[in-house]
Amino acid sequence: MEDMRLQKYLANAGITSRRKAEELILQGRVSVNGSIADKLGSKVSPGDVVVCDGREVKLTVDHTYIMMNKPKGYITTAKEQFSRPSVMDLLRGEHKRLYPVGRLDYNTSGLLLMTDDGDLAQKLTHPSYEVHKSYSALIKGIPPEGVLKKFEEGLDLDGETTAPAKIKIKRVIEDQTCVVEIQLREGKNRQVRRMCEAIGFPVLSLKRISIGPLRIGSLEEGQYRHLTKTEEEMLKKLSG
Ligand code: URA
Repeated sequence: MEDMRLQKYLANAGITSRRKAEELILQGRVSVNGSIADKLGSKVSPGDVVVCDGREVKLTVDHTYIMMNKPKGYITTAKEQFSRPSVMDLLRGEHKRLYPVGRLDYNTSGLLLMTDDGDLAQKLTHPSYEVHKSYSALIKGIPPEGVLKKFEEGLDLDGETTAPAKIKIKRVIEDQTCVVEIQLREGKNRQVRRMCEAIGFPVLSLKRISIGPLRIGSLEEGQYRHLTKTEEEMLKKLSG
């Protein structure tokens, strides 16, 4: 381990986000080698003993990063009151501590990233990092060019204007539906479905195909795999 800032150490250890770690420090709840460290900017070196609320915090260096092809009909949160199946049910026992980065709707399939790296998860979902996500959607009707432009211009969704997005027709099916590829750089609730509804071309089915540099490729629905080292590094670079 290299020297690192105390708040980063706490976040990397998975106990909380970096922002909340700063609060813990300022509240005087963290000590390094027996001395309270209640100022931001303290560094932790190899061999230092960090204690938070009376418990030693050890760095788990080896985080796990998994990409899953989420099937339709699964929620991305832990179990809820209606007991619908959760993506957690698809993970074999050894991955109990993983949680999804961002969400996909119950009826959306495709790329879901899961990790126990709270710091990276927070960055990838924070709007300021503008991580691009692409979707393949089957929509009802064939929007003309002028209508597609509205994605680029921004659409009003319940009083909020969307950031410029891209949409491209990939395939027309029997003059009645078409497959479009949509790229967003923000993640409002049900954003693709609401944007398509707003232009009058509702989504019939939706799949996420990429998050930043990660692509779903040929991973089958319901299957998951560990990210390669290169994929992990690309993600970390993306989030600074
Ligand atoms: N947009 C949606 O409408 N649904 C998703 O699951 C993801 C993006």
